[in-house]
Amino acid sequence: AGEGPLAGRHAVVTSGPTHEPIDPVRYIANRSSGRQGSAIAAALVRRGARVTFVTGPAEAPRPNGAEVIEVETAAEMRDAVLGTLPAEIAIFAAAVADWHVRTPSASKVKKAADGAPPVFELGENPDILRTVAGLAAGRPGLVIGFAAETDDVLANATAKRLRKGCDWLVANDVAPASGIMGGTENAVTLITEAGAETWPRMSKEATAEALVDRIAEALA
Ligand code: C5P
Repeated sequence: AGEGPLAGRHAVVTSGPTHEPIDPVRYIANRSSGRQGSAIAAALVRRGARVTFVTGPAEAPRPNGAEVIEVETAAEMRDAVLGTLPAEIAIFAAAVADWHVRTPSASKVKKAADGAPPVFELGENPDILRTVAGLAAGRPGLVIGFAAETDDVLANATAKRLRKGCDWLVANDVAPASGIMGGTENAVTLITEAGAETWPRMSKEATAEALVDRIAEALA
């Protein structure tokens, strides 16, 4: 068992993108690197928490000292998260795909003789954050979501905190010019019931440290 302000606490962290298969060689994905989630998991471990790190296919290093569960799709991520509860802390840093291909092809989709591109029907993915935040029994005491926004960050993120039912929402600007998605730095606004506070732009590691310090304070 760890030592530190979060000793004896179980935290689950989702991270990275999900991959939603189209056929055996193709998938739908996004630009998430998994760096922010990995840094948060590592910071939680350093403060003594028992950490379950549920990650999609991401390039970021796996956090030392965490139990790592590797998944591919949103549905697998949901099952892994629900399977690892109970937890006192749940942090949803993953960039979960919103849709999956309803019926992935069992064999590689071939080009049609007439050149007509294939049409894929998409289905909605489970919203893991909203599911966990809305659990009637076994809801973690502190549920934290992320909001990757490209505009009206504060307004959208404030509404998102309420819609998702989470306690805190960490909003970040992922407009391409910010270089944040897939990059090494983050600039976040933390939204709680008490209001919003904007933190200076800093490394994803420093952002993780600041967030986990706040978590330790809140649970003290
Ligand atoms: O709705 P949106 O994708 O902007 O919400 C972002 C937040 O919700 C993130 O914390 C993300 O990890 C979480 N989420 C989730 N499952 C989804 C979609 C988003 O857990 N299917």
